[in-house]
Amino acid sequence: LALLPGIGGAAEADDSVRSLSAWTNQRGSTLYIDNVSASGQLTGTYINRAAGFGCQNTPYPVTGWVLGNAITFTVLWRNAVQSCNSITAWTGFYYQGRITTLWQLVSNGTTSPGQIQQGQDVFTRSGKAEA
Ligand code: BTN
Repeated sequence: LALLPGIGGAAEADDSVRSLSAWTNQRGSTLYIDNVSASGQLTGTYINRAAGFGCQNTPYPVTGWVLGNAITFTVLWRNAVQSCNSITAWTGFYYQGRITTLWQLVSNGTTSPGQIQQGQDVFTRSGKAEA
């Protein structure tokens, strides 16, 4: 299966965005990419370890899209362990071994744009995805 550069399959030797890759950001959180389909749909899990936030240290489902070197992914912060009543969406790009993103975090009950938290996360490869 020939895939576009940047999407790739698990057998590729480079470190681009692809299935079964793990990416850790500067806050210590990890994005595990389980699959990127031929159409670019991304699935995986996210473990938040960022200081100052809730819902740490347990896996949350991730869904997203990959288009060439462009990527978006989203986490609903709800699992069997803890719910934070919030959603984060990251938008970014893969370039020179990094996924550089801007994110926004919205909580259920938000009523004004100023209540949307935002920031930047930069992810680097941290090994193969865990089950
Ligand atoms: C919450 O506190 O409402 C849920 C956890 C949010 C964690 C945020 S998402 C953006 C930033 N990057 C991370 O890896 N963690 C924080």
